[in-house]
Amino acid sequence: MIERTLVLLKPDAVQRGLMGRILSRLEDVGFKVVGAKMVWMDEEFGKKHYFDVAERRGEKVLKVLLEFMTVGPVMAMCIEGVNVVENMRKIVGTTEPKSAQPGTIRGDFAHVSFAYADGQNMGIKNLIHASGNSEEAKFEIGLWFKPEELHSYKTVHELHLF
Ligand code: CDP
Ligand code: MG
Repeated sequence: MIERTLVLLKPDAVQRGLMGRILSRLEDVGFKVVGAKMVWMDEEFGKKHYFDVAERRGEKVLKVLLEFMTVGPVMAMCIEGVNVVENMRKIVGTTEPKSAQPGTIRGDFAHVSFAYADGQNMGIKNLIHASGNSEEAKFEIGLWFKPEELHSYKTVHELHLF
């Protein structure tokens, strides 16, 4: 039941100075950061990470998404917790900020719609990526982190929350 997921604080979160506030929310629920690094990814790496986006959302979306994701560095984190893949998606909120519920990261820190971003020919700046399911999480953690970059340690949360 304890699993790991991949989180990226996207360039909009980094450049808006929201890394600390977003990470605080993840720490507040008791998730454990087991790996973290800042990476400025290139288009080639982006295509590996978002390998299925062209198929699911179209070539045009992949193009604007990669332009957005390579505009600056991201903070990549591997996060551990109970059912963390599903739990993290709940806290992150749905893809479109306009539809994301208040209380979610995407709902609280952004508001634009698919229609607006598509009309502007720009990527949806929704602050954070989180793996969509367990299979995606395993693939993405392997893509972003070497085994020696991931750590096992105890937090005080484990006394009370796990
Ligand atoms: O990130 P999430 O898993 O919620 O959604 P996705 O379908 O895997 O899409 C990946 C990313 O593509 C989204 O998080 C958006 O940043 C971006 N996207 C976009 O820029 N424009 C769209 N019309 C749809 C998605
Ligand atoms: Mg996704």
